[in-house]
Amino acid sequence: HGTSRINDAGHLEIGGCDVTELKAEYGTPLYILDEQLVRRRCREYMEAFTASGLGFQVAYASKAFSIMAMVRLVDEEGLSLDVVSDGELYTALQAGFPAGRIHFHGNNKTPDEIEMAIDAGIGCFVVDNLVELGLLQAIAARKEATVNVLLRVTPGVEAHTHEYTSTGQTDSKFGFDIGNGAAYEAVKVAAGQPNLKLLGVHSHIGSQIFETDGFQLAVERVAGFARSVKEGLNVEFQVVNLGGGFGIRYVEGDTPLQVSEYVGAISDAVKTYFAGIYSKLPQIWVEPGRSIVGDAGTTLYTVGTQKDIPGVRKYVAVDGGMTDNPRPALYQSKYEALLANRADEAATETVSIAGKCCESGDMLIWDVELPEANSGDLLAVACTGAYNYSMASNYNRIRRPAVVFVQNGQSDLVVRRESHQDIIVNDIVPARIAKQTV
Ligand code: LLP
Repeated sequence: HGTSRINDAGHLEIGGCDVTELKAEYGTPLYILDEQLVRRRCREYMEAFTASGLGFQVAYASKAFSIMAMVRLVDEEGLSLDVVSDGELYTALQAGFPAGRIHFHGNNKTPDEIEMAIDAGIGCFVVDNLVELGLLQAIAARKEATVNVLLRVTPGVEAHTHEYTSTGQTDSKFGFDIGNGAAYEAVKVAAGQPNLKLLGVHSHIGSQIFETDGFQLAVERVAGFARSVKEGLNVEFQVVNLGGGFGIRYVEGDTPLQVSEYVGAISDAVKTYFAGIYSKLPQIWVEPGRSIVGDAGTTLYTVGTQKDIPGVRKYVAVDGGMTDNPRPALYQSKYEALLANRADEAATETVSIAGKCCESGDMLIWDVELPEANSGDLLAVACTGAYNYSMASNYNRIRRPAVVFVQNGQSDLVVRRESHQDIIVNDIVPARIAKQTV
């Protein structure tokens, strides 16, 4: 998919760059991002919403992959940005992202984070609970600022992969429950705060969702809530933010919809359910993360050792693992892979791909069909653009990989590989235990 292909040498090529050359230049493990594909996904969202005729913002959920070059790219494409911590906010501001298009999320924003965001002049806070509402009002008042607010509500729609279930939704750490009156109460409180401007509501039902039903049901519930708030409190929402969660294809059997299908279903639902309530339809905001960047990423590894247990399993180890991709260990996530320097060869055996961490759970893929691999071969794991680099760790003091953007035969280093020095840069040895040389 994207700009990937197998070239005449039998090598995987992404964005016109031969991965064997990328390995020679940058080493492995290496995250490779297909820039054209990211741009295409951004444009699919912008074009689908433009076609809907509704007012909209598409905010890239930067938790999926937050680095300065990525922030620049989504700014260029005209998207807004969703951040959930001072670190993501700092990244965005340092990258020159317009503060007015930044939305700040999270269920426990600290006073420092709130101050930093108000000082930067961000576009809006997505307020999660009453404690935060009070804190935000107090800090805004002290700064003599007025801040835009969305209230995060839980519409009682909990989405899972391949299904959604309606729940009482009492059991979520996020947001104000529509069902038990908490959300209604929150609107009442928020609307009465002198330094807060209540723009509307936010709902996020889950991640890696393949159907539109969950989103449509969420719109229906939010619309019902909007009606009760209008009738009871005379408050109208200008903005309805429906979060992210649009699925992508990781492996065969995953059946995501096109971006235009998700957007079409949502905008139709908004037109249907809000028509009888408001004279002017609200703006629709969404926050895709995975579906912007997930399938544009590929991780390139070098094959090292192997362990063949006859009749049981053959383990093929690579030079990365759960430190650069914790998703298989955390969520039993499935991935596809190919031998990137012999991509034209047919698979001859079933092997399992192990990482290099001292932990049995550090497996990247169980049972993948590959040509017989040798030390030094390159393994490419697909669809690692989202929640890989952003969830990477230094477990076992393994250095985080480099990231390159590729397009039109050109590669640009956007994150350099961590050095050994980086590993100890924050370490301090108290003088009393500092080793004496004898
Ligand atoms: N908006 C809110 C409020 C969210 O909580 C999330 C994701 C998104 C937007 C973006 O969702 P997306 O479009 O990427 O599905 N680490 C997990 C995913 C956690 C998602 C958390 N929230 C994973 O690797 O699958």
